[in-house]
Amino acid sequence: MRILTGIQSSGRQHLGNLLGAILPAIQMANEGTNESFLFIADLHSLTTVKDPVLRKENLHATAAAWLACGLDTSKTVFYAQSHVPQCTELTWYLNCFTPYPMLANAHSFKDKSDKLSDVNAGLFDYPVLMAADILLYDAQWVPVGKDQRQHLEITRDIASAVNRHVGSDVFVLPEARIDEQVMTIPGTDGQKMSKSYKNVVDVFLPEKELKKQIMGIVTDATPLEAPKDPEKCNVFQLYRLVASSEQTADLAGRYRAGGLGYGHAKTELLGVLLDRFAEERRRFDFFMADPAAVDAALQQGAHKASAVADATLLRVRQALGFA
Ligand code: ADP
Ligand code: TRP
Repeated sequence: MRILTGIQSSGRQHLGNLLGAILPAIQMANEGTNESFLFIADLHSLTTVKDPVLRKENLHATAAAWLACGLDTSKTVFYAQSHVPQCTELTWYLNCFTPYPMLANAHSFKDKSDKLSDVNAGLFDYPVLMAADILLYDAQWVPVGKDQRQHLEITRDIASAVNRHVGSDVFVLPEARIDEQVMTIPGTDGQKMSKSYKNVVDVFLPEKELKKQIMGIVTDATPLEAPKDPEKCNVFQLYRLVASSEQTADLAGRYRAGGLGYGHAKTELLGVLLDRFAEERRRFDFFMADPAAVDAALQQGAHKASAVADATLLRVRQALGFA
């Protein structure tokens, strides 16, 4: 199968992003016969982020996180969306087959246009650029979160409209792969971990700063000596996600026995995080300190992606009478 997904270049990636998105995607990409395309949607980010310095930093830190987590660029075509500008040409063709009301009624456009002060045409056209990202590469499976379901339906509608118009299957119809089971990693306050809630655990931070985040995890006021219910503790919920089953059972036993303070549990959590992500932390620092290595990886991906994009565009131009 040809699998493709886009990720937002939102900068530093937290533990929720790692466990909920990055590590499963890398695993899927490395599975036997799958062919995978993974790109950083930096053109989409221009709808909301206008600062060029911040954009570069975000692209770099996002790519560094994926590379640090073991993304293998010989197995995955890994690139920045803006490095393959063919998707903007395809966006125009697709625009001319997209009914205006379909975009005007899209949930994400309605949400964003209610919340943002800058309601630009890029925001309105966001789903068409996304359709181009997918159709340009003949993607068959598109792993996304539930919130992207409608964007995939829009992509299929546009692709079908063009196929019908030209009387041939110029586009492959992609299928959304939505993992309903995906676990929600809790943040330091017990809510879903998210950059927007300021409750993240960023395992790429220097040890001292990571320790500060861990020590800031919210716990209740049960005294040190009292037995504690591990199921009700944010520290334990995070611990069990990274520790081995033996370590988890052992810590649960000590919670229930009493005499274990939350400060101690936090120190143990810090220990398993540093252990589990030692290699990723080392690689992240390496890539953050060497922008040229990150650029080289992205350029190599753009080169491979471009070859596929050119072939699709030629097919589309011919079908529409531009070639
Ligand atoms: P954030 O909420 O921090 O802005 P994004 O919306 O950019 O995160 O999500 C990027 C990816 O990480 C998505 O695939 C999303 O499902 C996943 N993700 C984000 N937060 C969590 C979490 N707390 N638990 C599991 N997965 C998460
Ligand atoms: N819109 C997606 C998101 O917000 C990111 C994205 C852009 C994407 N283009 C894509 C995802 C193509 C899958 C396929 O998460």
